[in-house]
Amino acid sequence: MPRLAYVDGRVVPLADARVSVEDRGYQFADAVYEVGAVFAGRLFDWPQHLARLTRNLSALNIAMPMAAAALDLQARRLIALNRAREALLYIQVSRGVGRRDHAVTPMRPVLVMTVRPFDFAGRVALQAKGIAVTGVSDQRWGRCDIKTVGLLPNVLAKAAAKAGGAAEAWLVDAHETVAEGGSTNAWIVAGGRLITHPLSARILPGVMRATTLRLAAEHQLAIEERPFTLAEARCADEAFVTSTTNPVVAVVTLDGQAIAGGIPGPVTRRLGQAMWGEIERQTGYRP
Ligand code: PDD
Repeated sequence: MPRLAYVDGRVVPLADARVSVEDRGYQFADAVYEVGAVFAGRLFDWPQHLARLTRNLSALNIAMPMAAAALDLQARRLIALNRAREALLYIQVSRGVGRRDHAVTPMRPVLVMTVRPFDFAGRVALQAKGIAVTGVSDQRWGRCDIKTVGLLPNVLAKAAAKAGGAAEAWLVDAHETVAEGGSTNAWIVAGGRLITHPLSARILPGVMRATTLRLAAEHQLAIEERPFTLAEARCADEAFVTSTTNPVVAVVTLDGQAIAGGIPGPVTRRLGQAMWGEIERQTGYRP
């Protein structure tokens, strides 16, 4: 697969892709991003990602770098030029380039896109095995619903989780209420119900979260969108995470303690299969 990137209007080899040191994304994390999944060369749940990007730019008063239809075209073109099959599309839009000044002035946004191969087939093995998760204090700002590149608290939380042998950090407040993961949404199954944090400024409205909720409803699963605590999760029947890169992956240990006997539970497995079905329906891809 050739590695080509889109940088501010030009397609260039990834190795030569550069933005200015005065880009506000670089200096202030004044930028938003999206990560889209490509299966069999086709984008999955793409309109939802585009809609979220548009919403986030508008929330931060950053101009759209181009019309949504043009962005759609450029993204598809980059995927095709990269001859990508199973891959991740990364999109970043910064407010623009200008003399370093905290104050915001109207400027021309900078759009960057990259495509990198991603082993989605390997996710099947991960789904069968499950992951370990650990609770970490949520140090993020008050607008976690906006997907900005200001990810330092997420990076540090995930590093702390990794140092403790876990794959994901569940971000908790002082009451040990779980908001979401460092880069995933968090779920438990308890009392026959699927439980996940409601949409709020505390969590990112995950595209996979929305698709999982839709599939769960189609499978007549009872759903409760409400916060849950680490204590509740420890006693849950099942737990799992969702994200573009983790399409329904079971959590089998929490802070070193097994959940549901340490193996992926039936509801998680069913939703995982339903997600692959949805991926195949939209893109034709079968792992
Ligand atoms: N992460 N919560 C956080 C904090 C995230 O960073 C992500 C996505 C999600 C799941 O969102 P979605 O289902 O739309 O992928 C939830 C991406 C994949 C990343 O930063 O790489």
